[in-house]
Amino acid sequence: MILTLDPVRLGGAALLVAAWLALSVAKWRGRRRHRHMAPTPTDWLVIHASQTGNAEALATRTAALLATGGLAARAASMAALDDAMLRAAKHILFIASTYGEGDAPDAAARFAGTSMAGGADLTHLPHLHYAVLALGDRNYANFCGFGRALDAWLDRQGATRLFERIDVDRGDAHALGAWQRQVGRLAGTFDAPDWEAPAYGSWRILERVLLNPGSAGAPLYKLALVPIDGVLPAWEAGDLAQVSAPLDPGHPREYSIASIPADGRLELLVRLQRRADGGPGAASGWLCEQAGGASLVHLRVRAHERFRLKDNVRRPLIAIGNGSGLAGLRGLLKARIVSKVHDNWLLFGERNAAHDFLLRAELEAWRAAGCLARLDLAFSRDQVERRYVQHLLREQAALVIEWVERGAAIYVCGSLQGMAGGVHAALLDILGPARLDALAAEGRYRRDVY
Ligand SMILES: Cc1cc2nc3c(=O)[nH]c(=O)nc-3n(C[C@H](O)[C@H](O)[C@H](O)COP(=O)(O)OP(=O)(O)OC[C@H]3O[C@@H](n4cnc5c(N)ncnc54)[C@H](O)[C@@H]3O)c2cc1C
Ligand SMILES: Cc1cc2nc3c(=O)[nH]c(=O)nc-3n(C[C@H](O)[C@H](O)[C@H](O)COP(=O)(O)O)c2cc1C
Repeated sequence: MILTLDPVRLGGAALLVAAWLALSVAKWRGRRRHRHMAPTPTDWLVIHASQTGNAEALATRTAALLATGGLAARAASMAALDDAMLRAAKHILFIASTYGEGDAPDAAARFAGTSMAGGADLTHLPHLHYAVLALGDRNYANFCGFGRALDAWLDRQGATRLFERIDVDRGDAHALGAWQRQVGRLAGTFDAPDWEAPAYGSWRILERVLLNPGSAGAPLYKLALVPIDGVLPAWEAGDLAQVSAPLDPGHPREYSIASIPADGRLELLVRLQRRADGGPGAASGWLCEQAGGASLVHLRVRAHERFRLKDNVRRPLIAIGNGSGLAGLRGLLKARIVSKVHDNWLLFGERNAAHDFLLRAELEAWRAAGCLARLDLAFSRDQVERRYVQHLLREQAALVIEWVERGAAIYVCGSLQGMAGGVHAALLDILGPARLDALAAEGRYRRDVY
């Protein structure tokens, strides 16, 4: 066989070889880089225990600040933290909110109930260096209770504090500044600009409707708001609006958004609260009574990741709530109904059907049109025995199981006292702790309770 050496082909082959070599080197480098980025014991973990996303957002910023100093840092939820991770980590910054009465947020309940309850011999952590940023609100009896408990537990396990715990009262800027400076010091960066909360927009109230005339309870209004510049911000069903009231501008109040952007307006369901001295609540009084059509309402929308539909968008939905909790559920239901997902079961509770059947026409129209597969109502004071949504759940236990087995997600919105605890206890009895834990871990059991 005669081998002819064609210079053009030879050149082509040389190019191919060169290209292959270049690709291999790039791959090898990429693998090295990847290996370098994979979590190792020298990484910095920023663990958040968050219910409505404040601690989570601060964790993301904290990890980013560490990264500007060249440290390999990542933020993760306490839901993902286990004993093996704790034993492997050398540096963890914790950002922990408190819920209930000094309790852990839902995402941290498993960790608090297992690792933290386990005792010193289970998790001895002398190699760990840590710091805690505790988020809370001094209006609650057990201020920063979970952050304090976490800090004390880490100390008992033999871990070393990088610096003293910092407690934050309702997002206090001074305390957050102190945390930012400490983290900057760890990262070796001292010139990072101060973290600033997102600015408020100026909104006006288009419409305010009393939803429960004659109610034995406090008045509850549906408000429709539009931004004065006419540009609606983006939000998703499940998100929150923060309102800064003129009487208490430093402490915004949260409201579950009851509409979707396609409605062209932001709707809230706001209960008028009374303070101990009988005066109206700072924010609910402003929204329900004092603000007029010409008033500017300072409002910003806030992602509430833990209450969005996310992967549950196509699953059957069991929506459970009471009172103003209908707001968050209505946002979720509207989002599903516009996407033509009608596998929705709403269980809703209030006081008396005659006065408190909130948004009755809308809910009954949804039911009649098949947008709600089921609508079950509990009016607590319409009979001698008090009847709540948790009773509905227990009565429908077989159906709850059937829906969950069909893949349903469960969303709960409304009062923490009474409702959320009662619903949780009913779900525990109906589904069992293992199945309920698994649903929570899968993101199929989500709560917006206050
Ligand atoms: C995630 C989330 C979602 C929410 N969604 C909704 C919703 O959709 N609809 C809704 O209506 N509410 C909702 N809330 C509650 C809302 O944020 C406010 O807490 C509520 O409107 C009361 O605020 P306010 O400013 O009117 O009352 P405040 O002025 O804060 O007073 C409220 C109560 O706190 C007590 N209090 C506060 N400060 C003092 C003080 N200095 N001295 C004595 N007592 C005091 C009083 O007992 C009073 O009854 C939600 C809360 C959260 C956390
Ligand atoms: C229903 C409810 C209960 C709360 N209970 C407490 C409490 O017992 N102690 C406390 O310090 N803060 C308490 N807080 C305040 C939160 O911890 C605080 O608002 C925190 O910034 C929320 O952060 P997150 O968005 O990361 O969940 C509570 C808040 C709510 C809405």
